[in-house]
Amino acid sequence: MITLPDYLQLLPKTELHCHLTSTMRATTLQELAGRYGVELWTDDAERLFDFADLVDFLRGWRVAHEVLRTPDDIARVAWEGVEDAVRDGNLRYREYYVNPQYFAHHAVPLSYTDVIDAVIAGLARAERDFGVGFRVVVAINRRESPESAVALVREMIAHPRPEVVGIGQDDLTPENTEDPLRFAEAYALAGEHGLMRTAHVGETPSASPENVRAAIEVLGCDRIDHGYRVVDDPAVLALAQERGIGFATTPWSTTICSGWTLDEGHRIRAMVDAGLPISVSTDDALFFRTDLGREYREGLPALGLDAEAAKRIALAGIDMAFCSDAEKARLRAEFRAAFLALGALLEA
Ligand code: ADE
Ligand code: ZN
Repeated sequence: MITLPDYLQLLPKTELHCHLTSTMRATTLQELAGRYGVELWTDDAERLFDFADLVDFLRGWRVAHEVLRTPDDIARVAWEGVEDAVRDGNLRYREYYVNPQYFAHHAVPLSYTDVIDAVIAGLARAERDFGVGFRVVVAINRRESPESAVALVREMIAHPRPEVVGIGQDDLTPENTEDPLRFAEAYALAGEHGLMRTAHVGETPSASPENVRAAIEVLGCDRIDHGYRVVDDPAVLALAQERGIGFATTPWSTTICSGWTLDEGHRIRAMVDAGLPISVSTDDALFFRTDLGREYREGLPALGLDAEAAKRIALAGIDMAFCSDAEKARLRAEFRAAFLALGALLEA
């Protein structure tokens, strides 16, 4: 016999929306900051992860990249993040946003391949140790210019890796906006070269449903990160429904980044009710003191969602993933077997 929170905790999960740097352990952040003499955003260890809003959080998030100085640091963080998520939420498959542009600004810069190959090395070791599959999505840094985004996609094309399957984006523009059309050329180039596309849109308090429309219609996104504003405009909602676009939502991060309360009036709940495929992720577990288990265990009941909805969400994460059909079939079989076993315990 298990309770609903236990069931949600134990459910096998995918995670499609997390930023590699945010899968770092707090202890590793502090250890590496000490080793390299990086001043974190506050001296008050108690308040290290207290952020007022998205812009405040992003200041800390940028600094956190500075503690990852070598390929070994990056590979270590990648491996540790999988170990933690398996323990904290029964993670079975994950996709990571990795922003190589931050590492290019280090005193000893890391190249695109230095960063990407280190990430792959850490995650491949974790896959051998924990059986958690993965893919990497290269994130365009929205603080950088549209030209540098095109150059980043050219790097991806010049240095293909089977694990690196698409482009996304992170941070905000220098004006603290989403501005998806700024990177239209980079997305077009990615599309021409068969890369999958996703974008952070419809997240910030000033974002509009038009950003979601632009990501779908102009950037050609296969799925959307956040995208909550989709439910604010019936025409954009209809577009997403018609195209079968999936949304990689992050319940707890919306409480900080969007200032919303997790309850039945939340936009994620409206997205579920509208029949949109949604998956659930942490976004930035380190910074928001969350984990994948908590997103399901506390987040879903707060949104008024039950065990049936949780199973649909877990399976939608497989449908929306950027991995092969064979890998998806394996994951579905594994998840369905676990649902049966856990369902029997829940009803016992
Ligand atoms: N980088 C990490 N998390 C982010 C978020 N939620 N929005 C924009 N950039 C991010
Ligand atoms: Zn994100």
